[in-house]
Amino acid sequence: MNNDHLETPLLLVIFGITGDLSQRKLLPALYNLAAAGDLPKKLQIVGISRRDIPAEEVYGTLQDFVQAEPFDHYIQDMLIEHTGMFQLDPDNRPDYERLLEMLKQYESQFGTYVSRVYYLSIPSGAFSPIVRMLGETGHAETTTEVQPRLLVEKPFGMNLASAHELVDALAEHFSEKQVYRIDHYVAKETVQNMLVFRFRNPLFESIWNNRHIDHIEITAYEKLDIEGRANFYEQTGALRDLIQSHLLQLLAIITMAKPAKLESDDIHAEKLALLQAIQPADVSLATRGQYEGYRSEVENPQSTIETFARLSLQIQNDNWSGVPITLSTGKALQEKSTEINICFSDHDTPTNEENRLIFRIQPKEGITLVLQTKRPGIQNITQQAEMDFDYARSFEARRVEAYERVIVDAIRGDQTLFASAAEVIRSWEIIEPILEAWEADGESLKTYPKGSNGPVEK
Ligand code: BG6
Repeated sequence: MNNDHLETPLLLVIFGITGDLSQRKLLPALYNLAAAGDLPKKLQIVGISRRDIPAEEVYGTLQDFVQAEPFDHYIQDMLIEHTGMFQLDPDNRPDYERLLEMLKQYESQFGTYVSRVYYLSIPSGAFSPIVRMLGETGHAETTTEVQPRLLVEKPFGMNLASAHELVDALAEHFSEKQVYRIDHYVAKETVQNMLVFRFRNPLFESIWNNRHIDHIEITAYEKLDIEGRANFYEQTGALRDLIQSHLLQLLAIITMAKPAKLESDDIHAEKLALLQAIQPADVSLATRGQYEGYRSEVENPQSTIETFARLSLQIQNDNWSGVPITLSTGKALQEKSTEINICFSDHDTPTNEENRLIFRIQPKEGITLVLQTKRPGIQNITQQAEMDFDYARSFEARRVEAYERVIVDAIRGDQTLFASAAEVIRSWEIIEPILEAWEADGESLKTYPKGSNGPVEK
């Protein structure tokens, strides 16, 4: 990480600071950044809550979610000291006016250009009214001293229509340059490295197309189940939760054309062009499943929400037409594993002896190239061997977690790792036929035992 952002004072306003996501991801990310000296020296966090709750309580569970050891209570105290809690009723306009007064006071104390970031760590159904109130009470106004930015969590809407509404509601008050739509998969170190791998290694560029690549598989399997998040999951399901966002972003990054420059605007333009070339998904090629016990866990004996989803997609452009692409995700499976498999074969002389390039996004982060080799001996026997790049072996540097990167990039004003409105809308268009078909038909849902490979062959 370069350190330019450390000199700019940060005013971080967190809506939903007491919520699940904030406690699990955001506050631990702040802790890690603070521990590594990666937070601006001039820092004020403003925690928004309906209830009157002290900062000590907000950070009370921090130790449970911070993975780094040993846990440093001094850092926890420092965060508490830099956090002011602000009680706000989301429907009450004067509360937003009072909030703005307070933020301006902090800003005048800081006395220079300030990053003011509003982090909406709340369900997307609650975004619009809060953003409207913020806009109407002057929170979005840009000046030479402050450019307010809005960081929002996925899912952006629940389907195509609600995504359009949400995009429009945000655009009424905040310009696209001010909105940062988080997709924490894109901010993972291993995913950022995919850009470098693709565009800084000329070796692969000329074979990155349908003449050499036979098929692509992207998987995000989780061992965890829905972890008690019944309300959220009953409204979401695997297709919306992982495929509409994370997996389509991974697909865009792995297949987009080379951007003119490796910079935000050019990368977004190529990602969008690629997403536009993906045909809306074909429901006859999709599979959905639900793990056994899910219905009793969510107390809904009729639930047809999928905890596993697999789609097959096609990209209609010169580079990729004819290459089947499979996206799969599921909960309560045998193991956690997020991978991209690029399967090469020579189309002129079809053979089973393919090469595979595997991007291991997590865990055991790295890249493996599967090669055909001759087994030593007097017989000519071909055997697969692996060339392996392993992050843990190659780099000693501290691994920056996705949420840490998200916060720092929002402070810096770098939108490269965030999803644009157009990308979000196009992603909903791609999955919309499946969403509609699955809503209308409960029959195609297959059950699978927890801890298995899901309802399909692996
Ligand atoms: C989130 C989903 O976006 O990603 C969760 O809402 C999922 O359901 C999580 O568990 C997985 O993230 P990671 O980084 O642990 O793979």
